[in-house]
Amino acid sequence: MEKVLIFIVLLSLLTFIDGAPKHALITKLPGFDGSFPSKHYSGYVNIDEKSGKNLFYYFVVSERKPSEDPIVLWLNGGPGCSSFDGFIYEHGPFNYQTAKTHGGLPKLQLNPYSWSKVSNILYLDAPSGVGMSYSDNKSDYKTGDRKTATDSHAFLLKWFELYPEFLLNPFYISGESYAGVYLPTLAYEIVKGLDAGTKPVLNFKGYMVGNGVTDEVFDGNALVPFAHGMALISDNLFEDVTTACNGSFWNSTNNKCSELLGKVYQDVADLNIYDILEPCFHSTKARETDTSHPTPPSSFKNLGATKRPLAVRKRIFGRAWPYRAPVKEGLVPTWPQILHGSVGCFDDEVAPLWLNNKAVKKAIHAKENLNWELCTDNIEYYHDLGSMIPYHKYLTARGYRALISSGDHDMCVPFTGSEAWTRSLGYKIIDEWRPWIFDDQVAGYTQGYDHNLTFLTVKGSGHTIPEYKPKEALAFFTRWLDGEKI
Ligand SMILES: *[C@@H]1O[C@H](CO)[C@@H](O)[C@H](O)[C@H]1NC(C)=O
Ligand SMILES: *[C@@H]1O[C@H](CO)[C@@H](O)[C@H](O)[C@H]1NC(C)=O
Ligand SMILES: *[C@@H]1O[C@H](CO)[C@@H](O)[C@H](O)[C@H]1NC(C)=O
Ligand SMILES: *[C@@H]1O[C@H](CO)[C@@H](O)[C@H](O)[C@H]1NC(C)=O
Repeated sequence: MEKVLIFIVLLSLLTFIDGAPKHALITKLPGFDGSFPSKHYSGYVNIDEKSGKNLFYYFVVSERKPSEDPIVLWLNGGPGCSSFDGFIYEHGPFNYQTAKTHGGLPKLQLNPYSWSKVSNILYLDAPSGVGMSYSDNKSDYKTGDRKTATDSHAFLLKWFELYPEFLLNPFYISGESYAGVYLPTLAYEIVKGLDAGTKPVLNFKGYMVGNGVTDEVFDGNALVPFAHGMALISDNLFEDVTTACNGSFWNSTNNKCSELLGKVYQDVADLNIYDILEPCFHSTKARETDTSHPTPPSSFKNLGATKRPLAVRKRIFGRAWPYRAPVKEGLVPTWPQILHGSVGCFDDEVAPLWLNNKAVKKAIHAKENLNWELCTDNIEYYHDLGSMIPYHKYLTARGYRALISSGDHDMCVPFTGSEAWTRSLGYKIIDEWRPWIFDDQVAGYTQGYDHNLTFLTVKGSGHTIPEYKPKEALAFFTRWLDGEKI
């Protein structure tokens, strides 16, 4: 009996190490000379053999305790943006240093604030047509919330079959921006699958959304109070527009209201929408302008500084919808579709250079003749599942944990909307609004609600929190996953 038990324990230890598909293991990466602190795997999971629909993932095993640490799925938004955005610019295992020679491959160093320090993290390009994911039948590229959620769920079931040693780890899903729609709808599919007894059984625990698109009304009403609180519009205009619009800005029904909203938009038009403190770089000047520019006062020198080597200020393109407007039912234009190719404020060289390199593609097992783009217009995407608030209500009522975070200087999905909708669920406040601390400093504010719902801000952060504030992001990520007080 004892021998059998020991045998089983040994076997499970062995399978923990050996279950993952060997052909998916990444042994080296162009640009990186060091040794991997943990195992990395990547490749395709086919979710529809008939149409040849293949979703790409990159999986980073935890550098702490892989067998016990949570497994966290990460999704960027768009729609149409690749999760390599998160991998390269936010919380991935590497920092990328631009090459000294033009067009040369970036140098990779280990990122001390990688989320793989404390979790097994799975980056997924979804839906098909985005990033490295593709389908042989291009009609799959016409898609929407519903299809994306069921496809991502199908992916997860197949992925866990390939990596069964992670089935018992607590499983979370996370992301930002338009993933504010992907996540609750995917969570809903997961829970539906659990209720139906779908195998394999996912040990689903909850979700984290950063500056997430949620609801037409709340997101649509968020800009005016944000602009006022941040001193971007005058008291007079705020009072006049509030009166004319009767406090509801998201779908103006009278001329006076529309006219005054026009003035609000004018006042904020030239700001960097992803972080109002950052300069906006305009087309041709984008490359030349940097911290040595003589005009800004020297105290502005550190704007855009981050613990990550690439300045965020040059990369404000395309990580989010809405573009100063809430997401409405129907077609959601992708960023290239909106900007018609003339992309201002945009300097994203590192990711496409690296990911379109032949040797890199080979090393990560990606399809060779595929042009990787940060945000693509390959897809035709429809918002067809409405407001996310009923999903949040349902999931939190079922006991799933939710962390809703906001970089508080993001004007794309302003904190005012996320704070308002989390409060609107009507849950009892169990941890009243207070600062949360990192490195002896106030890192932001948080309010905890019953049903494991937490709202949190990150002070001074723009739209993509782990890019602007990598240390603070790793801190709240770790505390929340570990169930500690943030
Ligand atoms: C592609 O998918 C569409 C919709 O499912 C189907 O009607 C069409 O026959 C497929 N085309 C091919 C070449 O399989
Ligand atoms: C203004 O809003 C209030 C409360 O939301 C509502 O009762 C009232 O009917 C609205 N007035 C107009 C003119 O829309
Ligand atoms: C504005 O919202 C109201 C309900 O809040 C709705 O009845 C009306 O149709 C909307 N108007 C427009 C122009 O979308
Ligand atoms: C909160 O989450 C914990 C850990 O998952 C769970 O045990 C608990 O039941 C949840 N509480 C509520 C009120 O849902």
